[in-house]
Amino acid sequence: MAVQTENGDANLVNLTTLLGARITGLGMCVPDRVLTNADLEKIVDTNDEWIVSRTGIRERRICDPNTLSSDLAIQASINALSNASIKAEDVDLVLCATATGDYIWPSTACIIQNAIGARKAGAFDLSAACSGFCYGLATAAGFVQTGAMKNVLVVGVDTLTKQVNWEDRSTCILFGDAAGAAVITPCTAGEGVLASVLGADGSGLESVWMPAGGLKMPLTQEAIDNKLNCIQMKGADVYKFAVRLIPDIIEATLARAGLTTNDIDHLVMHQANMRIINAVANKLQIPESKVFVNVDRYGNTSAASVPLALTEAFGQGRFKQGDIIATVGFGAGLTWGANVIRWSC
Ligand code: UT7
Repeated sequence: MAVQTENGDANLVNLTTLLGARITGLGMCVPDRVLTNADLEKIVDTNDEWIVSRTGIRERRICDPNTLSSDLAIQASINALSNASIKAEDVDLVLCATATGDYIWPSTACIIQNAIGARKAGAFDLSAACSGFCYGLATAAGFVQTGAMKNVLVVGVDTLTKQVNWEDRSTCILFGDAAGAAVITPCTAGEGVLASVLGADGSGLESVWMPAGGLKMPLTQEAIDNKLNCIQMKGADVYKFAVRLIPDIIEATLARAGLTTNDIDHLVMHQANMRIINAVANKLQIPESKVFVNVDRYGNTSAASVPLALTEAFGQGRFKQGDIIATVGFGAGLTWGANVIRWSC
């Protein structure tokens, strides 16, 4: 089947000969400042034992007031491009998944594009909260697999510590700041991103959200006084949603690739909470040795969490040629997204 572009030019895409799309390079950036559970004990009525037993988090990284999402994203992008040995000028698209962009508009992707010198690239932001990188990876793979683009830079970045209510102990202990980036390039069909599943349930809008600061509820003094410009979360609802849904989403994505949970070599989940990671792994009967965890050191870094985990796992030499990696993100929207990857070096 051939699809003609809207303007009728000769840019035809033959969908019967899809390419593969693989991760060629990974990079990350976290702020230097570490906020431990002991530090939090001095801010809110909490304790290390509660935080570790309920979340698995021991410390997280936190930006200083002058550091923005774009700052972390630019460094993660430079690291990913260097890891991929690809020049910024050869990037066709910069795709930034974030809920904490420097501005409401224009996009943080444009700031990254300019800073790294990706002068031939398009750039846009993607809003899917903690699922953002998984949505971005699926989108990038689509562009590459059709032959429409060659080199796509996908960045997941969030600085949610700027949006937490530091008086709300149920949320301020959870989040950390970080950026992770991946370069997606063509490869042999059957390698790289094998299948993706994206989903949403907008009826869960108020399960985890920031009510003020958009056009519906502008940032008035009253909104600020009521902390409506901070994260509001029904933690137990999000917890149940994740534990109920994510195992099915992983199985559905594997099935699309003709695989089952037995084929998984690495489970790289959104690092929201150790109990969620364990519950999902247990339900799918995936042994601990195959489950990557860094939530203890970074907390929930939202859109950055999956690329941060992929970068660290890759850096530790865990991924071997042909390994099957299942990645999954979930969060505000509500949204969820999973990708199954056959690692190709
Ligand atoms: O990226 C996606 C977005 N979010 C998530 O993935 C979060 C998913 N949800 C969770 O991870 C968990 O629901 C939390 C970790 C947020 C909370 O754990 P929980 O087991 O659901 O606790 P809870 O909210 O039911 O609270 C239990 C108790 C309450 O006290 P009472 O009412 O039983 O006396 C809370 O007030 O724990 C109390 N509590 C705390 N105690 C000490 C809540 N936060 C804290 C705290 N330290 N930081």
